[in-house]
Amino acid sequence: MIFVFCMKPFRIKSIGILSLAILAACSHKHTVPPPDLAKGKAIYEATCKTCHGVAGEGNQQMKSPALANLDGDYLLRQFRNFKNNVRGGVQADTLGNQMATIAKTLNDTLLIRDVIAYIDSMPQVKSMERLSGDWKNGEQIYQGLCGSCHGPEGKGNVKLNAPQLNGLSSWYLRSQFNKFKNGYRGVNPNDKYGVQMAAIVTVVKESQSVEDVITYLRSDIPVAK
Ligand code: HEC
Ligand code: HEC
Repeated sequence: MIFVFCMKPFRIKSIGILSLAILAACSHKHTVPPPDLAKGKAIYEATCKTCHGVAGEGNQQMKSPALANLDGDYLLRQFRNFKNNVRGGVQADTLGNQMATIAKTLNDTLLIRDVIAYIDSMPQVKSMERLSGDWKNGEQIYQGLCGSCHGPEGKGNVKLNAPQLNGLSSWYLRSQFNKFKNGYRGVNPNDKYGVQMAAIVTVVKESQSVEDVITYLRSDIPVAK
């Protein structure tokens, strides 16, 4: 009687310890270390900064977009797309080719994750531009056609894989709109989300309407009440 009494808690305890040990061993095997922001920063500063800017604010002279406002999922997908010729694979897309060449130099998936996590951790950049398009017309088009995916304030929607547009410069917005339109981006069948976006640009036919939407996006969208 005493024996059983003593063994029971002992056995339960030992099973507990054993299962903890197994759990630790298993989780050790499968655990991926958290992103290393210091490593990510080092890569960013050595490889990305010259084009994308020290704070991820972009650089018009290098025709390199701001990255700081984009979410980690979108950044990683684009980086992989460049790497796998899903974006930047069309020969005439010189700038896309350029970025694709750089993406191909970084082959360690953990380091890719580190640099993306570092960019994701950057504070948002806020900038406005005074453009001459028709702001009101732009608002109407944007809220009618774009806001459902990119958010009524242009802040993006991670669930719909639609990136933040607020904070991207007019020259970059214009260039990407044209790339979707002219078959430089969103043409590869593996580019699931780019294909989606490419279908939408065909709806906005007049280039003036595109300018109006860009004017609206660059004028710091007022918060919807
Ligand atoms: C030689 C200049 C240059 C360097 C260096 C560079 N990029 Fe780029 N990057 C570009 C250009 C140009 C584009 C825009 C390509 C286009 O027009 O489609 C771009 C686009 C991107 C995009 C897509 C942004 C968006 O809004 O869709 C990501 C993500 C990106 N770069 C990440 C990086 C990372 C990470 C590094 C460093 C490892 C890096 N880039 C280094 C020039 C550069
Ligand atoms: C059905 C949802 C949807 C709608 C509606 C939509 N988009 Fe997009 N858009 C996306 C997705 C998803 C992406 C990301 C594509 C990718 O992963 O390459 C994107 C990407 C973009 C980009 C590229 C951003 C970058 O950083 O390179 C621009 C610019 C853009 N959209 C503008 C617009 C405009 C302007 C409209 C309205 C005329 C619009 N979108 C409507 C889903 C949408």
